[in-house]
Amino acid sequence: MRYRRSHTHSAPSFVRRHWLIIFIPTLTAALCLLFLAYSNNQQVAAATKLAADQKVAFAKIDAQVKATLQKRIDDARQAEAEARASAEADAKARAAQTALKVPLSSTANATNCAVKSPESLQVVVNKKHCFSPLDWAPSDLVDAAGTLLRAEASTQFQAMSTAATVAGQGFGVSSSYRSYTTQITTYNYWVSISGSIQADTYSARPGYSEHQSGLAVDVKAGSCVLSCFSGSSQYYWLAEHAVDYGFIQRYPEGLTSITGYEPEPWHWRYVGTAVAKDMKTKGIQTLEQYYGITGGDYAG
Ligand code: DAL
Ligand code: ZN
Repeated sequence: MRYRRSHTHSAPSFVRRHWLIIFIPTLTAALCLLFLAYSNNQQVAAATKLAADQKVAFAKIDAQVKATLQKRIDDARQAEAEARASAEADAKARAAQTALKVPLSSTANATNCAVKSPESLQVVVNKKHCFSPLDWAPSDLVDAAGTLLRAEASTQFQAMSTAATVAGQGFGVSSSYRSYTTQITTYNYWVSISGSIQADTYSARPGYSEHQSGLAVDVKAGSCVLSCFSGSSQYYWLAEHAVDYGFIQRYPEGLTSITGYEPEPWHWRYVGTAVAKDMKTKGIQTLEQYYGITGGDYAG
């Protein structure tokens, strides 16, 4: 009885007396649960953040790959377009060159540019004034040690050449009379070297060259042919004395728009002493200006 009573009434006092023994494990368990929940939460948050970061990173890589691929495609397209444009330009240039190359058999007459008196010692042959027929040739050519010029021009040239030698300024000859067919070969050669547009600035088309008149001669100083001739002492001698023999520098510096050609310090043209001296007195450098004749390019 004592025990039962004691048992029935002593339960709360047991808890009161031993609450610590109950509370601590309960608290510990609760804390553990809380910690587990918190830890789980953290892991979930970390995993979510990682997934989000990965998504952003993948999106970035994806965009970079796409951009790289697009750039490669664009570059390839541009290269193809450029190659096509360049091939078209090449084809056009080749077609233009081929079109302007003169066939060896060609002797077609160009009546719209015909000079009236091709045999005149003062004939003006330029890009607007041609020989007619195109293969016209002088009848009084003289060969003086390989230099082919018309009789009067030849005599005067030999006298000038001898005077230059006596003055210690002797020069050689690189070209004199050139027939129509020779000029075809010459012109076509230069076209093959630099194309027809460039060639037209320094080489006459067949039928349009002063060399065909038998009145023009190209000189050289030793191995110095063409442009270097302008710096030679022989050039300065000619610039001073050629007029006394009836020769003029036909394509002077700065007058390309009038003569149609780049300067040629080596190219000397016989016009007779009267005309050469009169031009010098009047300070006129070109035959176009002296005779009031059109020059410049083929067209226009
Ligand atoms: N070099 C000159 C212009 C000619 O070919 O006649
Ligand atoms: Zn010449």
